[in-house]
Amino acid sequence: MKIDVILGLQWGDEGKGKIVDYLADRYDMVARFQGGPNAGHTLVFDGRKHVLHTIPSGVFRPDLINLIGNGVVIDPITFEKELKGLDDAGVDYADRLFLSQKAHLILPTHRLLDAANEQAKGKSKIGSTLRGIGPAYMDRTGRNSLRVGDIHKNDFGERYDRLKQKHLAILTSLPKIEFDLEEEERKWLESMETLKQVPQVSSEYFVNRHLDFGKRILAEGAQGSMLDVDFGTYPFVTSSNTVTAGVCTGLGVSPDKIGEVIGITKAYCTRVGGGPFPSELFDEMGELLRKEGHEFGATTGRPRRCGWIDLPQLKYTIMLNGVTQLVVTKIDVLNIFKELKVGVSYVIDGEETEEVPFEFPKDISMKYESHGGWEKSLEGIHVFSEMPDAAQDYIRALEKELGVPITMISTGPDRKELLLRNVVV
Ligand code: GDP
Ligand code: IMO
Ligand code: MG
Repeated sequence: MKIDVILGLQWGDEGKGKIVDYLADRYDMVARFQGGPNAGHTLVFDGRKHVLHTIPSGVFRPDLINLIGNGVVIDPITFEKELKGLDDAGVDYADRLFLSQKAHLILPTHRLLDAANEQAKGKSKIGSTLRGIGPAYMDRTGRNSLRVGDIHKNDFGERYDRLKQKHLAILTSLPKIEFDLEEEERKWLESMETLKQVPQVSSEYFVNRHLDFGKRILAEGAQGSMLDVDFGTYPFVTSSNTVTAGVCTGLGVSPDKIGEVIGITKAYCTRVGGGPFPSELFDEMGELLRKEGHEFGATTGRPRRCGWIDLPQLKYTIMLNGVTQLVVTKIDVLNIFKELKVGVSYVIDGEETEEVPFEFPKDISMKYESHGGWEKSLEGIHVFSEMPDAAQDYIRALEKELGVPITMISTGPDRKELLLRNVVV
């Protein structure tokens, strides 16, 4: 069997949680391959909303295995809170939730370093979620990290202290941050006891054996391709590979095992935190998108920046990921607009281009094409041909430009608010 992938094609928050949750019942396992508690994936069903950060979005489906792969960084405190949320929701995850021994741990001092690094950057700060992601991945690459497989070892405490001292030494050269380290350490060590109870696996064997036995696996991306550490709007990115290649390194599967790559885009575009965003709207249209789309971060609650969909940006991330089918989410947010715009090219130094540049200059402008809005509710529509003509035209126009079939259209936050068009999974 091959492993299918779902990932975000913009700057995150495309609705990955919703789509993974919906499709999960067609799979035997959902696996996270990168990122950590910077992610906030929202699921809505049976009138309830759940937000997941580290735990895969397949966890609410009975019998399904959920794996946190080696590419993920785990904060035991957030993880414990998520488990508590599942307990409260009556979800039985025992024997269904597994951790890779090779996943890396986020220490309290990683969060402290994250905050101090951001403070030091002043005006050019990234707008990190301050969950310790960057410093944790730095220690992974720097070969200093503690991994899940280390937590039962006798020298774990000693290694923790050594790494903490290293962090404290670095912190002396950074701005001072208010942080109750003793209290955070106490919570961290306490939640480590919960982490110890979760079964650990050699995830590369675990994943490949399941594939060999004919089991169906869905890899769930976090963030979005424009936040990829190599291909995103560097340095305004996260610290992991969010593109399809990250599935290979974050789960231990070879490239020939990649099956369908399902790329998600909103019907417009958002970004949270700093960094370039060529199609950003600074006027009342942007405000309206934020209001209609409830565009506030699922992890930090920050207002998301909003703008029109950007086709050159999407073509770039479709190329990087080898996307085989597209999902368009939040199309209902456009219901109220009389006119919709689609970014078709960038103008940089007077030159028109469809290529994402090395860096987006500050004075970049975007050329747009206009589309008529439908100004109708899409509630209750589950068949494409029943959508208003203008909505069908909008989808067909995106499909034609992007060259990939749009197989799912999401019309609301609920699991059921979805329209399928020949989904191949
Ligand atoms: P993720 O990080 O990609 O999983 O996305 P988030 O959960 O951070 O943000 C997506 C937000 O949009 C959540 O509040 C979802 O409940 C909501 N959402 C998802 N799909 C739709 C949709 O089709 N329409 C509307 N109105 N909301 C949606
Ligand atoms: P999901 O999985 C949207 C953004 C942050 C910041 C930058 C770096 O919910 O789509 P980090 O905490 O990684 O150091 O932040 O990346 N960011 C996200 N934006 N959705 C996310 O995850 C994000 N995870 C990180 O806002 O600009
Ligand atoms: Mg999110």
